[in-house]
Amino acid sequence: MGANGAYDVESYRADFPILSTQVHGHPLVYLDNAASAQKPRQVIDRVSEVYETGYANVHRGLHYLSEKATADYEAARETIRSYINARSTAEVIYTRGASEAINLVAATWGRQNLREGDEIIVTYMEHHSNIVPWQLLRDEKGLVLKGVPIGPDGTFELAAFKALLTDRTRLVAITHVSNVLGTVVPVKEVIRLAHEAGAVALIDGCQAVQHMTVDVQDLDCDFYVFSGHKLYGPSGIGALYGKEALLEKMPPYQGGGEMISSVTLEKSEWADLPHKFEAGTPAIAQAIGLGAAIDYVKAIGVERIGAHERDLITYATQRLSAVDGLRLVGTAAGKVSVVSFVMDCAHPHDIATIVDRQGVAVRAGHHCAQPLMDHLDLSSTARASVGLYNTRAEIDALADSLDKVRAIFG
Ligand code: ALA
Repeated sequence: MGANGAYDVESYRADFPILSTQVHGHPLVYLDNAASAQKPRQVIDRVSEVYETGYANVHRGLHYLSEKATADYEAARETIRSYINARSTAEVIYTRGASEAINLVAATWGRQNLREGDEIIVTYMEHHSNIVPWQLLRDEKGLVLKGVPIGPDGTFELAAFKALLTDRTRLVAITHVSNVLGTVVPVKEVIRLAHEAGAVALIDGCQAVQHMTVDVQDLDCDFYVFSGHKLYGPSGIGALYGKEALLEKMPPYQGGGEMISSVTLEKSEWADLPHKFEAGTPAIAQAIGLGAAIDYVKAIGVERIGAHERDLITYATQRLSAVDGLRLVGTAAGKVSVVSFVMDCAHPHDIATIVDRQGVAVRAGHHCAQPLMDHLDLSSTARASVGLYNTRAEIDALADSLDKVRAIFG
C-alpha cells in the first residue's frame, strides 16, 4: 500500500475482514459508511495488541504497562494532531465522539460566554448533535438559535448565511459536510465571516475528515469536532480540537480523576491542557485504535480516497438517476460521499429492507437531521454512503437491487 500509483481498491478491501461477509446469500455491499465505517485489520489488530500486550490505566501508574499504555495513548493524540494540523497536542481533547465534543463546548465555552439575547447560527442541514446541545443552552440562557436555509438542490448559500449574521452573533456552529446531502460547506469563508462578525466558529467534521484534508490552522476554526468510528477507527472515541487560548479560559467539563492537579476538600485546581477536559479513565484502546486508523488512511492518502469516492458518487448519480421513479435528494456541485434518494413506489424503509435482501446495506430514515427533512418537505430518504473500499460494481449492485424494489412495489 503506498500513497503513489494506482488506487488499488482490491488490496484495500482485503484489509477489511468484514467485507467477505455474505448477507442473505449475497456478498455484502456496505454502503452505510456515513453512519459508521468498517475497520481494517490494522485497526482490529492494534486494539487486540493493546489488550494482549500493552494495556493498563494511563497517566497513573509507574509500572511498565502503565507507562507503555500512556506513551501509546499520547502517541495517538499526536497522530490526530498531525492529521488535522493542530499547533499542539494541548489542543486535541479526546471525547467519546463528535456529540460529546459539541456538548463539551456548549457546557463550558457556551455556558461561560453566552448571555441572554446572544445568537447562534446553525444550518438546516445540521445533524441533531449540532442542534440539540445549542437548544438546551438556548433554553437555559435565553439565546436565539437561527438556521441558514439550504437551497432546493442542497447547496449552501453564503448569501443566506451572511444575511443571518448580526452584532449579536456569538457562535457559528456548522457542519463541514452534510450527512444527508453530501454538500460541502465553504467553511473557510464561513469561518472568516464569522470572525469578522466577532463570533466563534465551530465546525462539525464528522463527515469530512475521512474524505478530505482538514487543516484546522488553515481553516482558522475555533473548534473542530469529529468521531473516530466514521474514520475506520473504533466507536466510543473522537476528538475536539480547540484553539489553545480558548481552551485555556474554559472551565472543565466533567470533574473527576485525571483532570485535576490538586484537590483538597475546599478546592481543586485543574490539570493542564488537554487533560483538564478528560475526567476519568479514558477509552484507552479506542484512542490507540483511532491512531492506527489515521495511520491507515494516511498510508493510502486521504486525497486519493476522496478522489476514488468522488468517482463513485458521480457513477452512482448516473446509475441511480436512470432508475425509474427515483429522485435524488441533494445534488449540490462538489458534493461528496453520500447519495440520498426517494422513490415514488416505496417508502425509504421498504427500500432499505428490500435491498438488504440483496446484501446491500443502506440507511433509511431522517438520518438524525429532522429539521432538514422538514425543510425539504420529506419525512425520510434512503441513503447510500461510500468509503475507501467501495467499488463501481457495488454501485451496480445497489442499482440492480433498486430495480427489484421497483419490481415489487412499482
Ligand atoms: N450521523 C450518522 C449518520 O449520518 C449516524 O448516519
